[in-house]
Amino acid sequence: MDHFHYRGGQLYCEDLPVADLAEQFGTPLYVYSQAAFLDTFNALRTAFAAVDPLICYAMKANSNLGILKMLAERGSGFDVVSGGELYRVVAAGGDPGKTVFAGVGKTDEEIEEALVAGVLMFNVESEEELENIARVASQAGKVAPIALRVNPDVDPKTHRYISTGKKESKFGMDIDRALRVAESAVKIPSLTMIGMHMHIGSQITTVEPYAGAVAKGVDIIEKLRKMGHPVRWYNVGGGFGIDYKAHEAKPIQAFADVIVPAVQSTGCRLAMEPGRVMSGNAGILVSRVLYTKQSGEKRFLIQDAAMNDLIRPALYESFHKIWPVSVPSGLPAPPDDFEGAIAGTDPWDVVGPVCESGDFLAKDRALPRLERGALLATFSAGAYGMVMASNYNTRPRAAEVLVEGTNARLVRRRETYDDLILQERL
Ligand code: LLP
Repeated sequence: MDHFHYRGGQLYCEDLPVADLAEQFGTPLYVYSQAAFLDTFNALRTAFAAVDPLICYAMKANSNLGILKMLAERGSGFDVVSGGELYRVVAAGGDPGKTVFAGVGKTDEEIEEALVAGVLMFNVESEEELENIARVASQAGKVAPIALRVNPDVDPKTHRYISTGKKESKFGMDIDRALRVAESAVKIPSLTMIGMHMHIGSQITTVEPYAGAVAKGVDIIEKLRKMGHPVRWYNVGGGFGIDYKAHEAKPIQAFADVIVPAVQSTGCRLAMEPGRVMSGNAGILVSRVLYTKQSGEKRFLIQDAAMNDLIRPALYESFHKIWPVSVPSGLPAPPDDFEGAIAGTDPWDVVGPVCESGDFLAKDRALPRLERGALLATFSAGAYGMVMASNYNTRPRAAEVLVEGTNARLVRRRETYDDLILQERL
């Protein structure tokens, strides 16, 4: 079920017209559908049920407290990569005991905080980090639960900036090194290796990279156990892709079909860290057209969302569907295919007010002519949208609204100018 849909030419989020939300809360505005989040959460639980999955939502994709609370209430765990993210889990009522702590550069303070909070396990990314966690745990009189992050050296076939499982990436340890580190870890009393972790990249749309990676993992877990490590968690990370353009990503069940048998063969419980697949298509960015202008043949739609609100197009040249919130009559709502010609449209660059040529949400995008004040929806903006927003050009960050049926809750108010200078001193 698509929780962002058009009725009578008007875009709705669940049962609310998006135009009403823009009126009430202003623009630029992130609008999230609770049902969309929960549909995916439940689909993951069902597809992976055979290996008793702990879904550790990768909150780096979207860490709004309202969303975390909604997920925590339904038993979700979390994947955190900083002390700040762990702080959010606790603030949202999440369970640190269902939280995994990843990241290549954990500080001593962050390790201490995670030990005190009682995280389920640390995903350990290097030999030095392992030694440091052991030292910090020992000083605190604790035993740190850990999972080794192994880099399986597979090509996830995704954008190079979000590929993490190849040998040359900074993440994890290659298999030989990981096994050597594991040997030496057997004797460390302040560590207990209860898991094995891998995460090969993000926006992965095919199952083959997982098939290759999980098979290697099975072998690694067997070796770790032979050394005496009580490995009972197989953490396959995140990375499941979503549909940005058409139907490019394989459904969750297809990923489950290759992952479940491998995990089952180890007798481990499955942990996973889905971020984008849960949040990406659960959110849109709504903006308002400020001006249109033409320069030679080029048409520009200048609207009030900018690269500081959604940096993905500028950073990764990523494609986000963009379509009017109120569709002019005679046009589809929205087209399934943006590749071919769409009658009644022209190519427009959708740009924001920021003073950079890289400030665009789309280039040469088929759109109808729109008037000042028209509303635009940028789709698939729920993941890595607001979390990567900045105040560049001293622009207040957008507001965020969480919709449930006919209810809209402001889960983050729009920033004020005062918010923007609060930390600074004359
Ligand atoms: N686990 C680990 C260890 C990760 O590094 C990541 C994402 C995830 C889980 C969640 O991956 P997901 O399920 O969302 O694919 N800003 C980029 C994406 C960066 C991904 C970073 N790591 C973008 O906008 O595409």
